[in-house]
Amino acid sequence: MIKVGINGYGTIGRRVADAVRAQSDMTVVGVVKNKPDYVAIEASKMYRVFCASKGSEKAFEDAGIETHGDVESLVDDVDIIVDATPEGQGQKNLDMYKKNGKKVIFQGGEPSNMVEASFNAYSNYVDAWGKDVVRVVSCNTTAMARTVSAVSKAFGAMKVDATIIRRATDPNDSKKGPINAVEPSLSFPSHHGPDLKTVMEIGQVNTVAVKVPTTLMHVHTIKITTEKSLSQEDVTGVFKGYNRILCVSGKLGITSTAQIMDMARERGRKRGDLFEIAVWKESIHAEGNTFRYIQAVHQESDVIPENIDAIRSMMQSMERDESIKETDRSMKLGVN
Ligand SMILES: NC(=O)c1ccc[n+]([C@@H]2O[C@H](COP(=O)([O-])OP(=O)(O)OC[C@H]3O[C@@H](n4cnc5c(N)ncnc54)[C@H](OP(=O)(O)O)[C@@H]3O)[C@@H](O)[C@H]2O)c1
Repeated sequence: MIKVGINGYGTIGRRVADAVRAQSDMTVVGVVKNKPDYVAIEASKMYRVFCASKGSEKAFEDAGIETHGDVESLVDDVDIIVDATPEGQGQKNLDMYKKNGKKVIFQGGEPSNMVEASFNAYSNYVDAWGKDVVRVVSCNTTAMARTVSAVSKAFGAMKVDATIIRRATDPNDSKKGPINAVEPSLSFPSHHGPDLKTVMEIGQVNTVAVKVPTTLMHVHTIKITTEKSLSQEDVTGVFKGYNRILCVSGKLGITSTAQIMDMARERGRKRGDLFEIAVWKESIHAEGNTFRYIQAVHQESDVIPENIDAIRSMMQSMERDESIKETDRSMKLGVN
């Protein structure tokens, strides 16, 4: 049984905890919270809660939340830590994990140059094999890596041009914006292009990014130039072969991110999560060796299966295909 600790119980951390709990080969030893708020109360009903800083136990106690020590006591007791603290905090935590000789997975907000490997299950599972410090790439990069690597494996991808329409913030956040503006990223390519290259080999990747006032999902429009020519049916057939890519259709009423999220809720997914990348069938257009498609990304949950697979790769406990299959089965991915 792999003993997992989760440092940071926000959007990503709480979902990773639930996904670890759903696996038969791993267990959640505890989770770390910073503030003794309503999220900490809910966490304490399922998990042992540890405090982010020494001396804050009293504040948790005052809020009626039982704690089991600080973050270092948790780190002491695990085989591997999943760090899901806010962007930039992970980097500050690295020495603590190293000092304790523990393996750690960081999230996409941390820089790629502080880890031994960046990770995506489909494109480079083996690169994390036995490693100590790994980073699961961001929600946007994970989404691109899934569909681009599927295409690349089938047809050979030479060039990717993508426009990333980013959600402003997550639904539980009332501080960030924009709330009435469209905000382009002024660097070209946006950081997503170079980030994709950390998990797959590909000739050229051009990305532009624009933030818009929505909290539900990101949307990508992608154009890929391939080595072999292909048809719309070829591409649809390839996408259908992967559980973590879900083809959706406007003909069935799914014409925006609102209906995609509604479908996830109707499927009874906890928190309304959609771990799969949704590709609109009607958006797939092939012409010679170039094709285009549009995909939607549930930023709060698409990276969760990758965290589970990264644990197994780093612990050398399962080969790629077996791990992906087991994660998909336990999280009910690809079940329509
Ligand atoms: N949200 C997304 O869409 C998304 C998608 C993919 C990847 N990521 C990446 O995942 C990482 C986590 O993002 P998130 O959205 O999950 O953040 P989040 O919702 O803000 O959650 C961060 C968690 O870390 C805790 N925390 C704060 N300071 C801490 C500290 N010093 N030590 C330990 N824990 C601390 C927070 O506790 P309190 O609430 O008690 O302060 C909270 O539980 C980032 O690298 C981000 O870039 C995010």
